[in-house]
Amino acid sequence: MSAEMPYLDPQLPVAERVADLLSRMTLPEKVGQMLQLNAKDDVRPMVEEMHVGSILHASPEKLALAEELVARTRLRIPLLVAEDCIHGHSFFVGSTIFPTQLGMAATWSADLLEKVARATAVEVAATGIHWTFSPVLCITRDLRWGRVSETFGEDPYLIGELASAMVRGYQGDGLDDPTAILATAKHFAGYSETQGGRDASEADISRRKLRSWFLPPFERVAKEGCRTFMLGYQSMDGVPITVNSWLLNDVLRGEWGYTGTLITDWDNVGRMVWEQHIAADYTEAAARAIRAGNDMVMTTPGFFAGAQAAVAQGLADEAQIDAAVARILTLKFELGLFENPRTPSAELIAQHVGSDEHAELNLEVARRSLVLLTNDGTLPLPSDGTRTVAVVGPNADDQHAQLGDWAGSSGQADWLPDGHPREMTQTVLDGFRDHVPAGWTVTHARGANIVDLIPDPEGDFFPDGQPRPPIGVPCAPDEAMIAEAVAAAEGADYVVAVVGDCIELVGEGRSTATLDLIGGQVALLDALAATGTPMVVVVMSSKPLVLPPSAHDAAAIIHVANPGMRGGRAIAELVLGQIEPSGRLPISYAVHVGQQPTFYNQLPGQHGTRYADLTQRPAFAFGEGLSYTTVTYDDLEILTDTVTADDVVEARVTVRNTGSRPALETVQVYVHDVVSSVTWAEKELKTYAHVQLEPGEAQVVELSLPAADCTLVDADGVRRVEAGAFELLVGPSSRDEALLRAPFTIKV
Ligand code: NOJ
Repeated sequence: MSAEMPYLDPQLPVAERVADLLSRMTLPEKVGQMLQLNAKDDVRPMVEEMHVGSILHASPEKLALAEELVARTRLRIPLLVAEDCIHGHSFFVGSTIFPTQLGMAATWSADLLEKVARATAVEVAATGIHWTFSPVLCITRDLRWGRVSETFGEDPYLIGELASAMVRGYQGDGLDDPTAILATAKHFAGYSETQGGRDASEADISRRKLRSWFLPPFERVAKEGCRTFMLGYQSMDGVPITVNSWLLNDVLRGEWGYTGTLITDWDNVGRMVWEQHIAADYTEAAARAIRAGNDMVMTTPGFFAGAQAAVAQGLADEAQIDAAVARILTLKFELGLFENPRTPSAELIAQHVGSDEHAELNLEVARRSLVLLTNDGTLPLPSDGTRTVAVVGPNADDQHAQLGDWAGSSGQADWLPDGHPREMTQTVLDGFRDHVPAGWTVTHARGANIVDLIPDPEGDFFPDGQPRPPIGVPCAPDEAMIAEAVAAAEGADYVVAVVGDCIELVGEGRSTATLDLIGGQVALLDALAATGTPMVVVVMSSKPLVLPPSAHDAAAIIHVANPGMRGGRAIAELVLGQIEPSGRLPISYAVHVGQQPTFYNQLPGQHGTRYADLTQRPAFAFGEGLSYTTVTYDDLEILTDTVTADDVVEARVTVRNTGSRPALETVQVYVHDVVSSVTWAEKELKTYAHVQLEPGEAQVVELSLPAADCTLVDADGVRRVEAGAFELLVGPSSRDEALLRAPFTIKV
């Protein structure tokens, strides 16, 4: 067989197998290979008539059917099966759901994130899926955007560190490892530069601005071997990314030497026709997408006829289709799918999906992801005596808020309407019930709702035929619910109020105009504060929210993002002093929505630092987070005060635990370029170190920073080191007043 069909011979080099297979394919078969279709629809015509190369959003039943149909096709080219497994195997019942990316980012731990991605890959691979659309490398700029929870926050360096760790974890030791899955760097590039936070709006972004902040994390993972890139939805300078030849060909494949595969986002090719109105029909849209070098086209069935018509009319060259198909087939050969299509394995599923080992890792990540923002000394709660804790608020016992977007029944998958088994998730209420000291009492009242659900007034379907979910509108405070929570607080020694947002306020097309706590939540916090019972506010939300005075004046505030299945236990342990707080904010909190944007690495040159009616100071800044002890920073010393661009800046600083509890301190190192040829960020995170400090312990932390990292992007758009004066800023957060400063010089 393989003598007649060389592409089936695993002994031959991949390039030869690809060339042989391509030579046997008809144009419709090739165009079909470029298509990834939504397996929620009927998979039979996709496979039998459109020769589809890939499917996504396949339920286990649909996946089995599609594999069976493919095995009966002429060339038996295996499918690439894709899914958004973005913080765990999102839509496989019983899998491990970790904190969202924003939650995990607060650990600042590349090691942990690599482990999370590895565990996810092992679960995903067992279920017959080969490709995850993760990680997200978008930089959060405007907190109103609906997809903040999918990001690693606001800093390009931290994003690059954590994203590359996840890529390593997903792709494992190489694609021939049966537990490796393809990683996707998305959404390339600039998608998060929204207007007014609105999703997929035209991104007002210059090439220099792209090179300054948005491209560096992508460049890093491209060079480190991330095998696929997904293009964003947005246009820049009037050009949708799907046809931005400069970005795709000159930068990604040219300058960075990227040899991986591209995939569009959802119906990007169709959107050029029906949404952006820059192509008259699918023939033109397909021709332009092919000419720009796209490989896989997500969920645009019209591409099938459009691409063939484009070739017939001379608008697209079949050689360009061949190049795209060759890249897709290369992935399939490198994954070994022709020898082993990696279909679901009941045995591996039983062994790995939702395993105890992964649940342990999940708990560790959740513990490390919690950020203590304020504490008047009430925390940790004393472990002696017999006490009552009232656990209240709409997110105190809410599985969905805890798992966040892209998990279970969050709306993207239709085969698990009930989401993940409830018993796999420990809510905050569960956590307290299970972990308070013997003899303590835990009471509960919901206290407030967040939204009421109403049908979308714009109709039941989006223009592309996708169903429109109901929309959430803020609900009014419910006096009876508040009274019940107040009674619980009055009868308790402490009240833990878990507030935040809910799944209806998160996601694609669900940006928010406000950052306030919606619904009855502010009234609830005000009423709880008035009881005088010490209150711990837990902010469980997809993004930093604006907190009312009653929260800021509370005994403590804890940021928990969407902390995953084990989050409730971790939160209870933290409040009860069974673990130490160690998370640091990967994103700033605003005082008022009108302060947007609040990211820390802003440009100088504006007049003053305030609005007429408010300062620009964020409520909590990037990098902030407290311990249950106090840590001081002293004696920052630069050992190499003048270096060349090829040298390493060496410095040291003394950190000392001056309190009575241990600390895991994140020593943050920023750089300030004193005089630059262009305006440049006042400070940029360049590296950081985790230091474990026992009570009373001091450590001298050695810091090394390659001078080659002290770059800017000049007026010509070229990233380079400019000789001159710099400052090293070292401390526990990005706040100026928290940082020690020491000068150094880079000479030519
Ligand atoms: C659209 C989203 O923008 C993208 O992040 C996701 O991977 C695809 N849909 C597939 O679900």
